Amino acid sequence: MSSEYEASDLYFSESARDESQPDPAAAFAFTFHAVDEELGPDQRWSTWLEAERGSRGPEPRPSWVVTDQAAIDTELGILKTGKEADVFLLERAVEAIGGNPAKSSLLAAKRYRTDEHRAFHRSTSYVEGRRPRNSRDGRAMAKKTTHGRGVAAGQWAYAEWDALNRLWKAGVPVPYPVQVDGTELLMEFIDDGEGGAAPRLAHVRPSKDLLGVYFEQLRNGMRELARAGLAHGDLSPYNVLAQAERIVLIDLPQVVDIVGNPKGMDFLMRDCHNMATWFTGRGLEVDEQELFADLLTMVF
Ligand SMILES: Nc1ncnc2c1ncn2[C@@H]1O[C@H](COP(=O)(O)OP(=O)(O)O)[C@@H](O)[C@H]1O
Ligand SMILES: [Mg+2]
Repeated sequence: MSSEYEASDLYFSESARDESQPDPAAAFAFTFHAVDEELGPDQRWSTWLEAERGSRGPEPRPSWVVTDQAAIDTELGILKTGKEADVFLLERAVEAIGGNPAKSSLLAAKRYRTDEHRAFHRSTSYVEGRRPRNSRDGRAMAKKTTHGRGVAAGQWAYAEWDALNRLWKAGVPVPYPVQVDGTELLMEFIDDGEGGAAPRLAHVRPSKDLLGVYFEQLRNGMRELARAGLAHGDLSPYNVLAQAERIVLIDLPQVVDIVGNPKGMDFLMRDCHNMATWFTGRGLEVDEQELFADLLTMVF
């Protein structure tokens, strides 16, 4: 939380206080309240500087990323609710201050759920080989304490964060990862050029030419993933966004190590099958076995 006060303003001794004088704490509370009243119910101060080291996006950072401490996050609405996470549209903006111009950007905020009713369908086969960050977290997860559920949700957020960072740096078309904070992942909002969200591939009918363009991009993206030893693990026309002439791969918490995971090959095959089926159904013949074989040459 941002305020005009330094931490030292908060420390004063109760006993030393002269009762005839106004309580400095009250003055503080009033001012603090006034500052916060600038925020609407759907707003918060930018969490950019709160995020711990290693939790802010990779360099070189795109110029649209707003890093100002005085920026405000405004919730603009929900993009999609899901079983494990909800995705919100967020604006991070700062007004013109001094010589600095106003700046604003749209972000997709993916918030992993911590409630116990969530269906954890991704839990088992994907996470083999993954370890909690420390033993307290491990015990909490095993016991399914409230803290444990938070850790589990946070683990998915961090897993997706790691994948996005790796893949973005490798040139795979994924949203730029802006920051991760607990169970919330902020990333580039993939738009449709008219202020809305880009549609999922499943909902578009591209021309024959564009289909070919999309397929080239998909294969190149999958090749880059395979070169890094990874399969998406949940690739389908629902986890690919169509942004005009380009596609963007999303929903990556479960990326799978093709060789290290005992089911790695199965996941890769399923990814190939899902995408080949979609392209073939839209009129561009794609052989899933050929695609699979092509990707394997990248791994070994
Ligand atoms: N970066 C983004 N830009 C635009 N829309 C997004 C973005 N990330 C997610 N969405 C939208 O939210 C939906 C759900 O996101 P996804 O990551 O697939 O989560 P899940 O399928 O686990 O609920 C997507 O299908 C897409 O419509
Ligand atoms: Mg999805």
